[in-house]
Amino acid sequence: MKLVTIVGARPQFIKLAPVSRALRQADIQEIIVHTGQHYDHGMSTVFFDELEIPEPDYNLGVGSGPHGGQTGEMLKKIEDVLLAEKPGWVMVYGDTNSTLAGALAAAKLHLPVAHVEAGLRSFNRQMPEEINRVLTDHASDLLFCPTETAVKNLANEGIAKGVHLVGDVMFDGLLDARERASERSVILKRLGLQEKGYFLATVHRAENTDDPARLKSIMSALSQLAETKPVVFPVHPRTEKALVNLGLLPNDVFRSPDSAFSFPLSALQFTAPLAYLDMVRLSASASAILTDSGGLQKEACWLGVPCITLRDETEWVETVEQGWNVLAGAETAQILAGVEKQIQGPKPKAPQVETCAARTIAVTLHKNDA
Ligand code: UD1
Repeated sequence: MKLVTIVGARPQFIKLAPVSRALRQADIQEIIVHTGQHYDHGMSTVFFDELEIPEPDYNLGVGSGPHGGQTGEMLKKIEDVLLAEKPGWVMVYGDTNSTLAGALAAAKLHLPVAHVEAGLRSFNRQMPEEINRVLTDHASDLLFCPTETAVKNLANEGIAKGVHLVGDVMFDGLLDARERASERSVILKRLGLQEKGYFLATVHRAENTDDPARLKSIMSALSQLAETKPVVFPVHPRTEKALVNLGLLPNDVFRSPDSAFSFPLSALQFTAPLAYLDMVRLSASASAILTDSGGLQKEACWLGVPCITLRDETEWVETVEQGWNVLAGAETAQILAGVEKQIQGPKPKAPQVETCAARTIAVTLHKNDA
């Protein structure tokens, strides 16, 4: 059986690693197509190297651009690959423009589509990711859901055929990485941090980075927190551009460390985007995590680290129900109150998580081999 995988953005490489391994073990031939949506070494190559993902068979080099142009260019180039490869299945991950382009290119050629992380909804159609999720799910033939909520969301949209509750492939990846991270990563030493003695923060969602009022309000909360404990902030390229435009971060801060001495946010400990093992090590040892990332909300919960989500809604409602996560939005006061609540409050019970999602996906694909 031959399958073409379409990936392009950082979280997709993390999800791909355990699934790709399971596909190899199940003797499924996988052709990996990298759209090039993320192209910096620290956003792409380092994940393939560290997570031992085979080199992509195709790199489409699409790069950045406005949503329509980026997705359209991917669609055209993916179609050429699918026509040449003639796979039995096309697999897409998550909710990025690469996901939608892959699903649409395959569906137009009448090739069956498998979607990993199907059924997630924020119910906020302003998010580009929400449009990508909805359209991809409706074009998919196999829908691999990480949670029961995701299965229900699909049922509410009339999708029941091909739906499989398999668990979360990111949990498979985290189990594998956690041990290696504690053996190999020296990130705490490199950044001069103590176990449970710092906050970890990330921001990259368009709703935060592209809205100066929200971004300033979040950064103000982080600066106030930094008066109590170090705040480590690995900066996504989109966020770096937004902070530079607002005059809050010097240009080229990671490439010319001299410029980093004094600027409006110099109380924060900024770093370039981190590789996965360093990120897992940093997450596991943080006293709390503040983020607008989907993956990091789940990882915090699985690692037993309190999370404060810098959004008004979440697709991962279980993390909030279980008490590991609070929705704080972008208001400074609400973020600080969220931190207080998560740090002072009683520790929730460890979550129960299904393992072997990646293996279940490989087995299900085998059963559906035409
Ligand atoms: C994308 C996904 C989002 C995912 C996120 C993970 C969409 C709509 N969004 O957002 O779901 O959570 O990836 O990071 O697909 N850039 C670089 N170097 C890189 C990558 C990006 O400089 O390696 C810059 C680009 O110039 C671009 C900006 O970052 O302007 C944003 O890149 P984009 O491809 O729009 O996606 P993300 O914001 O990362």
